[in-house]
Amino acid sequence: MTTLWSGRFEHAPDAAAFEWGSSFSFDRRLFEDDVAGSIAWARALGRAGVLARDEGRKIEAALADILERGRSDAAFVDGPDEDVHSFVERLLVERLGDTGRRLHTGRSRNEQVSVDLRLYLRRRIPLLRGGLEHVIAALVDQASTAGEALMPAFTHFRPAQPVLVAHFFLAHVASLRRDHDRFAAAMIEADAMPLGSGAIAGTSYDIDVEALARDLGFSRVVANSIDASSDRDFAATFLYASALTMVHLSRLAEDLIIFCGEAHGFFDLSDALSTGSSMMPQKKNPDPLELVRGKTGRALGHLGALLTTMKGLPSGYNKDLQEDKQAVFDSEDTASGSLAVVKSVVDGLTLNRTRTEAAASGLLLATDVADYLVGRGLPFRRAHEVVGALVRKLAAEGREFGSLRLDEWREASDLFGADIVDRVTPRASVAVKRTPQSTAPSAVRRALTEAQAWLRRVAG
Ligand code: ARG
Repeated sequence: MTTLWSGRFEHAPDAAAFEWGSSFSFDRRLFEDDVAGSIAWARALGRAGVLARDEGRKIEAALADILERGRSDAAFVDGPDEDVHSFVERLLVERLGDTGRRLHTGRSRNEQVSVDLRLYLRRRIPLLRGGLEHVIAALVDQASTAGEALMPAFTHFRPAQPVLVAHFFLAHVASLRRDHDRFAAAMIEADAMPLGSGAIAGTSYDIDVEALARDLGFSRVVANSIDASSDRDFAATFLYASALTMVHLSRLAEDLIIFCGEAHGFFDLSDALSTGSSMMPQKKNPDPLELVRGKTGRALGHLGALLTTMKGLPSGYNKDLQEDKQAVFDSEDTASGSLAVVKSVVDGLTLNRTRTEAAASGLLLATDVADYLVGRGLPFRRAHEVVGALVRKLAAEGREFGSLRLDEWREASDLFGADIVDRVTPRASVAVKRTPQSTAPSAVRRALTEAQAWLRRVAG
């Protein structure tokens, strides 16, 4: 195997160490981007007068052919090469001889790997955003189907207050929409063209980097060649966006694992997305959701790993940076696979209104009782005390607010009137909420309409 740098050495590289350090087994995923970058570089060299017109044309045609073959046959992108850059250059030289040997003029693999990864992310991030849109659409559909059904919301995982089931689904929509924005920001960060940086100091050929950026679809050029050769902030930002997306999917998974379980029974998982037990015939397990929760650890790990790799590096390219790619690829695969399976799970959920409405009633109406007293002029802190004592009594007797007779209400406070009975229901509790982000049915309806409009906008 000849390398791009064998001229410097008397002896061949240690085979095992070379194999261990080579990246082609994984950076082959950058094949298309590497060829695209090389075609643009050939044009830039042509414009700079480094390549004669017919040389440029030959190189471009050969690269286009290499791209075509690699696209139509994944097995074509293979060989004993050190990395994808060496692979593409070897094929080019095999086809064109010395003309092919001119392509790397004024260019370094340090900037090449940066431009490849940036192009790759700009190609792939939109797919992840699409995956997010599909999950969001499934959640919005569930919110719409749920209508005004009620369920309890929890704090400290204890029943807190009644909310609309739609409000619960839209809560997850809100976090995933932030991820959608975060990936857009990661796109913008990757959108800087590093070629022209050379290995570290820039290039001595007359490269029109603005034209090169336009050619490759970048809207700007990097600011500093030293920084550019080791800048992986854009990869870290991508890993952060992926990690937070996984955190949100994991929390949704956790909610659904609990709410679909026998203890709550708020939703039913579709059979198609559940698994059985080899031993216990009654089991219907939420394996896909557990796997999403489990795989979240890898996405978090990749972010931590890359930041750790970056933190100790001296300025300029260091081979440590080769570690960025497996982190990016695995995080991407983890997020895209998880998005797809979560979408299917959400699509397949059936709401059990009887269970959710029953669970939305009971002592979790205590805040509404306190608010009633506030309405009668009692300071809130006093009202809290009164209702707290009432709750203590009811809990001890195994009763709920609905079972209190008027004289018992009055015993707790003479501010209670007969109208308290209508005020203390889950339906009344949500109806009196006022703020736009609240679970008031009118607010939830508006939020749902807004989310549907957002989906139409991003899809169009
Ligand atoms: N495989 C290398 C990487 O992923 C490509 C850049 C190599 N540059 C170098 N000077 N060895 O980072």
